[in-house]
Amino acid sequence: MQIKRVGIIGSGIMGSGIAECAARNGYEVVVRSRSQSTADALLAGIEKSLGKQVEKGKLGSDEVDTILSRMTATSDFSILADCDLVIESVLEDLQTKKHLFLELDRICPDSTILATNTSTLPVIELAMETGRPEKVCGIHFFNPATVMKLVEIVRPITASNDTIESAKEFARSCAKTPVEVRDQAGFVVNALLFPYLNNAIRLLEQGVASLEDIDTSMKEGCGFPMGPFALLDLIGLDTSLSILDALYEEYRDPNYAAVPLLRRMVSAELLGKKSGRGFYDYHGGK
Ligand code: CAA
Repeated sequence: MQIKRVGIIGSGIMGSGIAECAARNGYEVVVRSRSQSTADALLAGIEKSLGKQVEKGKLGSDEVDTILSRMTATSDFSILADCDLVIESVLEDLQTKKHLFLELDRICPDSTILATNTSTLPVIELAMETGRPEKVCGIHFFNPATVMKLVEIVRPITASNDTIESAKEFARSCAKTPVEVRDQAGFVVNALLFPYLNNAIRLLEQGVASLEDIDTSMKEGCGFPMGPFALLDLIGLDTSLSILDALYEEYRDPNYAAVPLLRRMVSAELLGKKSGRGFYDYHGGK
């Protein structure tokens, strides 16, 4: 099917990155956020991000206006009604997502593909909230979505081949590399990445090395672009905890049982870069 108009629900780190990618690649993009102020903040953030690309000489300043003119952000849910594809990207809470899928199914035409950017939750549960489970799949971008090339296309057992192919085509048209994965918690990347991140926190708790030295070790010893603590701060500690909890719920594997320090930091609202402090302090502008 031909996708022209893309709806995004959620104006967090991921929703905003996906919206920017889609608009840069020619799609008309509508974003539904919780309030008009968060919707306005999303547009301001994207304008700033595009501005940085202009400064780097990677984007013409005339292109910024064209890209921004393709985007609308509002708190009005009905704006999603005439989208060809909607990608939900709200917090990792199954009940919240189920409610949104029920609403989307009610307002969108039968032809609309409904996708979720969840990292770990069962896509089948969202598909079964709708009267069109064959048109529901996962389209999972990575953080930062404007930069990371991979998109996991998640196939719940109900999805049609047409839906999966359209989702892959959408990812390619956003200059991404799609891989198809089964609807199983963590898919490929998070199933492998999170035991590593969790074990890094365990090493810190055990006092094996400082967090700076653990990060340096993985950067300089393994060639990773950033160490585990910088990455946890980038992903967000609340998101990381939800991912580990969902992985543990599915597999009951001790490697996925969140280390207590992570849970305590989330309770203390030390959420990473987005809250100004996580394992590192960003108030000085790291
Ligand atoms: N649009 C297009 N390109 C952009 C951009 C934008 N909005 N913002 C930045 N870029 C480009 C930059 O121009 C730059 O390209 P060049 O090197 O060619 O100039 C490149 O992206 C890198 O940007 P920066 O120079 O600002 O930053 P950096 O070099 O310090 O890299 C990083 C930052 C990309 C985050 C890098 O450290 C990295 O790859 N880290 C690993 C991130 C990772 O592992 N992510 C996955 C997390 S797991 C996940 O997301 C799954 C989940 O479900 C939680």
